[in-house]
Order: sequence, then structure tokens, then C-alpha cells
Amino acid sequence: MAVAVYPGSFDPVTLGHQDIIERSSRIMDKVIVGVLKNNSKSPLFSVEERVNMLKSVTGHLSNIEIQAFDGLLVDFVRQCHADVIVRGLRAITDFEYELQMSQTNRVIASEVDTIFLTTNLKYSYLSSSIVKEIAMYHGDIRAFVHPEIAVKVQEKVESRTGKMPSREQ
Ligand code: PNS
Repeated sequence: MAVAVYPGSFDPVTLGHQDIIERSSRIMDKVIVGVLKNNSKSPLFSVEERVNMLKSVTGHLSNIEIQAFDGLLVDFVRQCHADVIVRGLRAITDFEYELQMSQTNRVIASEVDTIFLTTNLKYSYLSSSIVKEIAMYHGDIRAFVHPEIAVKVQEKVESRTGKMPSREQ
């Protein structure tokens, strides 16, 4: 059985993330979406909120599991008995960071490989930080995230008036 871990901050999950989850669910027997807990980027949403949002937008996929993780990604991958890490590649600007991560992970855990899915062109510009920034300025984010997530982002941003969400992928 081929098992993949798709790790990230998902603060919040975007349509680009959903596209990668759906495509990897067709390739792999099981995909575990790993939500990083202790993120130095101080996320807008708590890890529980991010996990719940991911669960609600992936409920139609039977081979997807959502789990929070802390510490090294390779340790989480081993704990899940997964075969590979999946990451999305949007543009050349992602490449350097992704290469560094995948090479580092292979040095610390030589059996852990990373496979990359090129992001759907429709979402090649999209990031969670852009979504948060647009929401901060009361823009419409429904083209970038699931309608349910759009409501949650707007509510969260409003509840934190005056506090700028962090920048991240
Ligand atoms: O969505 P993101 O923020 O681009 O995801 C980054 C993530 C969570 C994949 C990365 O920060 C990560 O793996 N963090 C766990 C700590 C770790 O293993 N660091 C070494 C990787 S080189």
C-alpha cells in the first residue's frame, strides 16, 4: 500500500492545497495531510482549527486522513509508515526552498523521498498569505478558498481587528 504524507501549515487551506490533496489521493492508496503544530510563523488559526477546516473540505475523499504533527517532518513520516512526502510546486520561486527541504530530509532520513506535483495553473499564484492579506483588507476571497473557509477566515480576521496575519506559503 502506497502511503504519502502531504505536510504544510495550511493557514488556511486554499483551493491550491485542495487540488494537490485530490490529485495525490488518486495516485496514492492513502494520503495523510500533516498539519504543522508549532509553527514559528505564528499562524492565524490554531492547529485544531486548521485540522478541522481540512477535514471539512476533504470529507468526500475516503483515503485522506488529517493529522497534526510537531517536530521533524521525517519523524512524522516514519511514525505514519509512509513511503513518500508530497509537495506542490507552484513556480520556480518554490523550487529552491523545496529542493533544500527535500535534500535535507533525505540526509537526515535517507529512506524518505519527496515527490512534487506541479500546481494546477489556475492556482499557480495562490498562497495562504495572499488569502489572509486580501481578507485583512476586506477583499473577496471566495475565488481562492472553499466558501466555508472564506467565512472562517473573514470571521477570524474581524475578531483580530488591527492584528496583521503572518506571511507564509
Ligand atoms: O506550508 P509550509 O509552511 O510551506 O510547510 C512547511 C513544512 C511544514 C513542510 C516544513 O516547515 C516542515 O517540514 N516543518 C517541520 C520541521 C522540519 O522537519 N524541518 C526540517 C525540514 S528541512
